[in-house]
Amino acid sequence: MAGRREGPLMRGGAPPPSRGSRIAMAIAVGILLGCVFAFLYPDGFFLHSSGSASSYLRTIKVGSCESSERVNSLKSELASLSEKNSELKKQIKELTLRLQSAGIDTLPIKAGPFGTVKAIRTNPTVTPDESVNPRLAKILKEVAVKKELIVALANSNVREMLEFWFTNIKRVGIPNYLVVALDENIENFCRSNKVPVYRRDPDEGIDSIAKTGQNHAVSALKFHILREFLQLGYSVLLSDIDIVYLQNPFDHLYRDSDVESMSDGHDNMTAYGYNDVFDEPSMGWSRYAHTMRIWVYNSGFFYIRPTIPSIELLDRVAYRLSHEPKSWDQAVFNEELAFPSRPGRDGLYAARRTMDIYLFMNSKVLFKTVRKDPKLRTLKPVIVHLNYHPDKLERMKAVVEFYVNGKKNALENFPDGSA
Ligand SMILES: *[C@@H]1O[C@H](CO)[C@@H](O)[C@H](O)[C@H]1NC(C)=O
Repeated sequence: MAGRREGPLMRGGAPPPSRGSRIAMAIAVGILLGCVFAFLYPDGFFLHSSGSASSYLRTIKVGSCESSERVNSLKSELASLSEKNSELKKQIKELTLRLQSAGIDTLPIKAGPFGTVKAIRTNPTVTPDESVNPRLAKILKEVAVKKELIVALANSNVREMLEFWFTNIKRVGIPNYLVVALDENIENFCRSNKVPVYRRDPDEGIDSIAKTGQNHAVSALKFHILREFLQLGYSVLLSDIDIVYLQNPFDHLYRDSDVESMSDGHDNMTAYGYNDVFDEPSMGWSRYAHTMRIWVYNSGFFYIRPTIPSIELLDRVAYRLSHEPKSWDQAVFNEELAFPSRPGRDGLYAARRTMDIYLFMNSKVLFKTVRKDPKLRTLKPVIVHLNYHPDKLERMKAVVEFYVNGKKNALENFPDGSA
């Protein structure tokens, strides 16, 4: 990793907020909380706590001749109020945690009993900003389902594979997908096949690199374009096109993290992380040093939620790809996700989740392990990504033969690797 850490996206250690600005923040937070209470509880917060409300009810019952109907309606009102109350308490607790994680102290919260505490990993989504790209906003309103969609970038070099890609998506019946066409040819090709397509305006600066068609130039562009989808408030399942869809991926996501990604790992250890012991015999008594290892996330298939950490991730990756000529987008993506803060650099701390390697399967898992294992052969993946093999289209077709058409020997004529 290069040591350079300058520029707007790569802050060095930012100075802590001054005392004055902390106080200002605390006052602002106080006013905000006050407004929330005033809005939800115009008659005062404590009046509605369940204790006083039930004594209020008792008074009514004893002191007046109200009909039982009236009592029942008050009771149900009480129930809904205490429900609201506990929901509000939960929200206050979450808000407090978030403010604390931003270095702002508000209401002190107590940790619950042993085994009951749980930190926040699902960050709040950003407020959609349509002014960022009104034309794209309009397309997304039509295409997205529950504010999420599959997005793939394509230019004319990959036309045949793109056709195979959307044919499988259509067969599975996934409606919410969009091709970002990098040239006119692909735009027309999509339109004539009734494939949802979005073509950037030619004057949108960075897009000139799309024309040269070089893989890594397109990679930087990808992170740049994705930002707008997130700013518009959509979750994106970014997809390469050397991927075969066998089920609807949106039925198999957790949606609890900023980034949920498929892995390049080939078994549980490599995909989900393990303790890798480094041995240096000359150290004698302390010869074993423990290290943490995990195979990289695949930057060609990941689900990203529209949150601040997600957008910061995209910015960091796009910035580095355009400032470090020899960088590889997948390595940069993983470094930004994984490395913690250190002198001269702030870590990102986006929440991340590794997808199940047998549901979101890479082609090494399929050809090295799954096709030879009687039990694993019976599992149906959600997608298969032919990321480990150069003869992509032939293997994609074989995957369809095996999983869709039930041809049991369809995968047999391929070597494990690229031979
Ligand atoms: C891998 O992990 C899954 C999920 O935790 C588990 O069901 C499976 O048995 C593990 N496989 C091996 C070989 O340990």
